[in-house]
Amino acid sequence: MTTRDLGLIHRFEPGAPDRAPLLLLHGTGGDEGDLLPLGRMVAPGAPLLSPRGAVLENGMPRFFRRLAEGVFDEADLRRRAHELADFVAAARTAYGIGAPVALGFSNGANIAAATLLLRPETFAGAVLLRPMLPFGEAEAGADLAGRPVLMLSGALDPIVPEASAAALADRLARAGAAVEHRRLPAGHGLSQADVAEAQAWLGRAAIPAAA
Ligand code: MLT
Repeated sequence: MTTRDLGLIHRFEPGAPDRAPLLLLHGTGGDEGDLLPLGRMVAPGAPLLSPRGAVLENGMPRFFRRLAEGVFDEADLRRRAHELADFVAAARTAYGIGAPVALGFSNGANIAAATLLLRPETFAGAVLLRPMLPFGEAEAGADLAGRPVLMLSGALDPIVPEASAAALADRLARAGAAVEHRRLPAGHGLSQADVAEAQAWLGRAAIPAAA
């Protein structure tokens, strides 16, 4: 059921207490229902928390404002990343769950990357599908202390420059994250390989439920 509580419209699907919860973050024009099937596929039985981005671009929900495709309003991005971190903290208390693993696609992957850099305690790990570097300038001080991060890029992606994804992988690794970055033979859209890679990585990472 969709609710407006806790500051962001969202859905929560309870799951097994021994499975790390997933925070599902949709792409531009999506909503809180979009990634639930993907979440159920890659982490069967896990609790799923799925907010809707609060920014509207021509009626399409997003997690932060952009000035043009790939050009972000960084002040808004920072504000929204803090809002998302506050939402996650409130949801953890309300639903009695541990720190979630973020699973974000496109715009959702970008807000997840920004939140990792600004509020590293928010996520136990992250799966970033077609992400790019969210900030032009280095964020000082983030300590990701071995946090597991999977990045899946599309070799044929017309939206995300390869150098931007590589720069994000580098930035996260320098902050201490355990980054695995794979390039799939895909475009910007998700493929079956994304599902298989994400599912296998979540199994390998074995992130505890109460992180
Ligand atoms: C973004 O705006 O976050 C990226 O350009 C990806 C997108 O949403 O198209």
